[in-house]
Amino acid sequence: MKQELLAKMNAYLANQEIMYIKLHNMHWNLKGNGFFTLHAKLEEYYDQTADIIDEVAERILAMGELPVANLKEALEITKVKELPDGAINIAEAVRILTIDVEYWIHDSKEIVELADKEGDVVTADIFTGYVKEYEKTLWMLKAFAQN
Ligand SMILES: [Fe+2]
Repeated sequence: MKQELLAKMNAYLANQEIMYIKLHNMHWNLKGNGFFTLHAKLEEYYDQTADIIDEVAERILAMGELPVANLKEALEITKVKELPDGAINIAEAVRILTIDVEYWIHDSKEIVELADKEGDVVTADIFTGYVKEYEKTLWMLKAFAQN
């Protein structure tokens, strides 16, 4: 039902809101060989995440619900595991990111399925686009890890 879809979209939004900070954490605290490459890539990811947060929140509003717009509530419902402050090496950052991206794909696909059940082609289309982008990101992370 529509409420289940909206609740799932808000959970997704909360996850991406926390990811926005987590991607900055890695961007700032990265150490080692490959720094320049992954530092720049993480900036691309958090910029992309900012666009996704805005698009999802506005879609939720267009569907007649309030988006999660405070971090306290986001932290209560997120499934994202944040990192402590401090140095993180490239291999560890890529390993953690890969797990996160696999989760974003899983999360997006669940919403596509729920949206399809509701006949909500717009939401299904938005999240199908995310799956496409994330699967490309996952391939690239796996390629980068094999150096
Ligand atoms: Fe920066």
